[in-house]
Amino acid sequence: MLVSAKEMLTKARDGKYAVGQFNINNLEWTKSILLTAEELKSPVILGVSEGAGKYMCGYKTVVGMVKGMLEELNITVPVALHLDHGSYEGALKCIEAGFSSVMFDGSHYPIAENIEKTTKLVEICKEKGLSLEAEVGAIGGEEDGVVGMGECADPDECKQIADLGVTMLAAGIGNIHGKYPENWQGLSFETLAAVKEKVGDMPLVLHGGTGIPEDMIKKAISLGVAKINVNTECQLAFQEATRKYIEAGKDLEGKGFDPRKLLAPGAEAIKATVKQKMELFGSVGKA
Ligand code: 13P
Repeated sequence: MLVSAKEMLTKARDGKYAVGQFNINNLEWTKSILLTAEELKSPVILGVSEGAGKYMCGYKTVVGMVKGMLEELNITVPVALHLDHGSYEGALKCIEAGFSSVMFDGSHYPIAENIEKTTKLVEICKEKGLSLEAEVGAIGGEEDGVVGMGECADPDECKQIADLGVTMLAAGIGNIHGKYPENWQGLSFETLAAVKEKVGDMPLVLHGGTGIPEDMIKKAISLGVAKINVNTECQLAFQEATRKYIEAGKDLEGKGFDPRKLLAPGAEAIKATVKQKMELFGSVGKA
């Protein structure tokens, strides 16, 4: 059964660890993440961007696939299915389709509009028992063609959004999606501490989990981060494993394309990446 992310994040915040959100792009990806979470007895959040949702044949297909896997693979750990960086309309569609959690990313709107739209979603999610993530201060890098500048969020605006009753808050603290550039300044712990001071107990979300040095991840968790998003690192691991397999000529045995063979090394690479992240985030054994 899919669950809201509220309880797992409250426990993570209190226990000073973070739950990983791993974005999914296809069946193999999803299966690898779920099997690893079960093996490590870790709660997990499956993230779906609007682009990935479209690619996987729409949100209803995603819900069907994930629910089917939970049953067929006997998954017992808490799993939330979460829209990543959703538009307002996208969030409504996911709620309708059966997601257990959504993110509304209103960070590119003026704060008044972000508040107005987030307020409406708070009401809907409360009524349906779903968790809701809001964002203040755009996360840098590119995601589905949307480029943010890696701002640091205004702590007062964070408080305004947190007070609306969202479940968790993504605040920009200099983090960006994808690989970090050579001249990256690092996370702004000053901003994180100021945000935490304003929002109190609200579980905080760190986007752009790929390539952040381990000591910064640990410090962020100690300052109130209870959810960390990872996407690019799984993509890179999948790509590298597939490339090696093809270069070794193993897919050229004259029998045509067999996804079970060609995609298997990538699926294994994702398992290893997810395991390493769950160990780093401290969520192993917390289900
Ligand atoms: P990365 O692609 O940098 O891991 O970030 C993922 C993310 O934050 C998804 O919202």
